[in-house]
Amino acid sequence: MTREKIMVMGGGIIGLSCAFELQSRGCQVTVLETKRCGGQASGAAAGMLAPYSENVEGPDDFFQLCLESLHLYPEWQQTIRQVSKQDFEYTSSGSLYIAYHEADLLALEGRLLWQRQYGSSGSILEGDALFSREPLLTRDAQAALYTPEESHIYAPHYVSALEQACRNIGVQIYEHLDELEIVEWQREAVVRAADGRFFNGDQLLICSGAWAQQLAETFHMNIPVYPIRGQICAYEVEAQPVSHMVFCNQGYLVGKANSTLVCGASEDVAGYDTTVTEKGIGRLKNWNKQLFPFLADKTPFHSWAGLRPATQDGFPLIGRIAESSRVVLAVGHYRNGILLSPATAKLAADYIEDKQTSAYNQSFSPDRFS
Ligand code: GLY
Repeated sequence: MTREKIMVMGGGIIGLSCAFELQSRGCQVTVLETKRCGGQASGAAAGMLAPYSENVEGPDDFFQLCLESLHLYPEWQQTIRQVSKQDFEYTSSGSLYIAYHEADLLALEGRLLWQRQYGSSGSILEGDALFSREPLLTRDAQAALYTPEESHIYAPHYVSALEQACRNIGVQIYEHLDELEIVEWQREAVVRAADGRFFNGDQLLICSGAWAQQLAETFHMNIPVYPIRGQICAYEVEAQPVSHMVFCNQGYLVGKANSTLVCGASEDVAGYDTTVTEKGIGRLKNWNKQLFPFLADKTPFHSWAGLRPATQDGFPLIGRIAESSRVVLAVGHYRNGILLSPATAKLAADYIEDKQTSAYNQSFSPDRFS
């Protein structure tokens, strides 16, 4: 039997995850990347696996997919580790979402009520119960929602391991292709690179994140995916003083095993510009020293930015497009690309294999804006 040839456009976390899953299921996969694998949003991420803290409104389909992915992570990351023979940090830290005022606390209590029905064993911590968990936290904190189920991963190392895992099982990866043009997507899938090379396959899986909107004309459909810049900075610390992921309504701090404390992130509309601004990092420094006063006399040793792929309605576009039986989209993961790596890989691979898919068909349909 001939193996189905799948071309994945985009070598970020989503493209690599889908490539790994599809190759593992027996397809012959090629990844086409205009720059370097993991060079955009994926490599810039703080790596939080935090569906409860990042989705605070209610248990919608996006939250459900995020939760599904969190549950897939322990086994998935173990497989990537074994296949790649590369190590990366994966820490079950739990998280604290800080309330400074009575009104914030009420919101956290409301959130805890519905999140308990979805697997959270969270609780509200106050006083000693809170400060013994995070001793250097400001005493202005009135309470926190503690969610033990949340974890984090060191995204640059994880993406690099995923790329190596793909290579080790036979995925063909082409980087630095500069520009890609889809020249045929009905009778077969054909893509031309800037250097004139052609790549052929049976199906095309689009995983180009914030750049996916540029394919709207090609596919005669609306693809409302927009870049939202996230500026982020990191401090060097000695013995890691922060042991949970700590969120407040301004952002988050994550202590990494390599003795850095990562602090994110702005949400700027700046097109495809990944410049770091004084104002953006200044804002992070202002609130994070309120949260952790020991940061007041520290300066970040590193700051950077990534472009999150946001969508018009906040949900990703995952599924086969109506115009062609050869094109599947998996884009628009906004703040949760790293978290959604395993669940998206499985969902997108199901679409490629035309397997009956889940309840998300409607909510994530790529055609819902057209
Ligand atoms: N998931 C964290 C962020 O997007 O900043």
